[in-house]
Amino acid sequence: MAPLPVAVITGGSRGIGLAVARAFLPTHRIVLVARTPAHLETASASLTASLNRTDAASSDRVRCLVADLSSITAAKHAGDEIVAMGDTEVLVNSAGVATDAPLIVSNMDHIQGVLDTNLTATIMVTRAVAKSMVRRKKGGCIVNISSVAGIKGNSGQSVYSASKAGVIGFTKSLSRELGSRGIRVNAIAPGYVDTDMTSSIPSVKRAEYVAATPLGRFGTPEEIGHAALFLSQATYITGQCLVVDGGLSA
Ligand SMILES: NC(=O)c1ccc[n+]([C@@H]2O[C@H](COP(=O)([O-])OP(=O)(O)OC[C@H]3O[C@@H](n4cnc5c(N)ncnc54)[C@H](OP(=O)(O)O)[C@@H]3O)[C@@H](O)[C@H]2O)c1
Repeated sequence: MAPLPVAVITGGSRGIGLAVARAFLPTHRIVLVARTPAHLETASASLTASLNRTDAASSDRVRCLVADLSSITAAKHAGDEIVAMGDTEVLVNSAGVATDAPLIVSNMDHIQGVLDTNLTATIMVTRAVAKSMVRRKKGGCIVNISSVAGIKGNSGQSVYSASKAGVIGFTKSLSRELGSRGIRVNAIAPGYVDTDMTSSIPSVKRAEYVAATPLGRFGTPEEIGHAALFLSQATYITGQCLVVDGGLSA
């Protein structure tokens, strides 16, 4: 039997990335990329455990790559390591940070860290994987996790929003570069989703965000995972940003 195709998920150790990995697990071999070995081990164990219940266990169904994507050099190195692990059919760039601060009190480290992790790493990892997809000549699918903040902005998130708007522009231009090779590139712009990233939002603020969301709740990581799986199967969609925000930006 032919081996299952490979889906690489950066930020796959927790939150949205882990839910994306769970959505692809029945049909793909998974590579999780994150910076914290303990988080990767927990994520890998939980995926493998669910696999045991539904499918024949296989030792290489979930692999992990420890990589800190917060610098351009490290992200380039991670991209090379991903390519060395084998042919990638699906790449989901979900690794990201949201250290909120009004711009006038932001320091250089904060600005550089957010831009490098959210935007530069997405570009560098995609660059390495896209090259290998072109060489492989079997097409491919790239999904970049942006944010509704990159579309409509959010106070205290100017740098984060810039990084996420950059991800959308990157996605649209790259889809034009790679379409003729059968490689589709799309983005997802989630609204507020219940993960570690949003767990420290004060309750008053959270209530405001819920009130501003027509569906009246935060999204679940699984709802973003479903959207990523949908984009991987939507063979005539490329260059799009799919907004999954409960109506927040309507
Ligand atoms: N949650 C939301 O409401 C929301 C809304 C819109 C967009 N998003 C976007 O969705 C993506 C996932 O967010 P989330 O809510 O799932 O966040 P999360 O629960 O905080 O998880 C973040 C993930 O990114 C990884 N990561 C962070 N910095 C990294 C670095 N320097 N190098 C490698 N990996 C790194 C983390 O790995 P470790 O476990 O090693 O730390 C973890 O796997 C992000 O791009 C975020 O901007 C989230």
